[in-house]
Amino acid sequence: MSKQRILTGITTTGTPHLGNYVGAIRPAIAMSENTAFESFYFLADYHALIKCHEAERVAESRREIAATWLALGLDTERAVFYRQSDIVEIPQLCWLLTCVAAKGLMNRAHAYKAAVDANREAGEDPDYGVSMGLFSYPVLMAADILMFNAHQVPVGRDQIQHIEMARDIAGRFNHLYGEHFNLPEAVVDDQVAVLQGLDGRKMSKSYNNTIPLFLPEKQLKKHINKIKTNLLEPGEPKDPDTSTVFQLWQAFATAEQTRQMREAFAEGIAWGEAKRQLFELVNEQLGEARERYYALLEKPDHIEEILQAGARRAREESQPFMEKLRSAVGLRGLI
Ligand code: TRP
Repeated sequence: MSKQRILTGITTTGTPHLGNYVGAIRPAIAMSENTAFESFYFLADYHALIKCHEAERVAESRREIAATWLALGLDTERAVFYRQSDIVEIPQLCWLLTCVAAKGLMNRAHAYKAAVDANREAGEDPDYGVSMGLFSYPVLMAADILMFNAHQVPVGRDQIQHIEMARDIAGRFNHLYGEHFNLPEAVVDDQVAVLQGLDGRKMSKSYNNTIPLFLPEKQLKKHINKIKTNLLEPGEPKDPDTSTVFQLWQAFATAEQTRQMREAFAEGIAWGEAKRQLFELVNEQLGEARERYYALLEKPDHIEEILQAGARRAREESQPFMEKLRSAVGLRGLI
């Protein structure tokens, strides 16, 4: 049997934070080390343009995210690591899929619906601020996935609907033009933690409660000290299961260290002390990668080279496949 292909994209609009690391980057890198899989990981920079019209921000985020994955040890000899925008066949496929995707299907997409609902609530025109990019975002995502005939797509819960739409669109294309696409499946790992942010809500850029992944040491300490806790004094037993400090600890600690911290909570460890230990743990685990990260940011030409090599590998597949698809829909040479 041929290898299972996993593929996932990272939208390049922000700076990676601990939640991205624990929930997505760390498991993806681990999966890429499993020889049963073939992994395709890419910077979804066309998707970034849907959310962000600040060119500098998008450019910076691409650099930062690429450097992050490399600093954390993604083996780019093994995984195919590329920028979506370097694969010229993706927007071509996106158009072929746009022409078979039902508009009614897109009407149901959560991201678009949320924008419309927010407009209605605010008494605005329902289409206010809704670009065609936002509306057809799931078609571009389907093109990303189907271009490489991925079997499994690791994503967060919020993205499951998009994978289902990709299946739907793939099925329709296959029905019209022959069996070209494999139907992809979403992989949602319930084991990986959804980290809480500084305020106890889900760590997310949109809540402005994140701890960036590669903060310099001093700032990392400062951020950890800002994590919201209750007012229990040293010596008073604390509940680990409602504590963001403990949850972060658990995401980085071994099972044994987690057991010990649970005990320390029961024995009333002071919040300051728990935070100090958390800082030590996170700092130790990320310290070396952080150094590699800042070194890589100083060498954008090196990052660029790696991404271009990734794009060449990806295009070895996308180019001939796109030829085949063009021909399948009737876009062929005349003779
Ligand atoms: N839309 C995804 C997100 O915001 C990113 C993404 C783009 C993606 N294309 C993809 C994920 C293809 C998986 C497969 O998280």
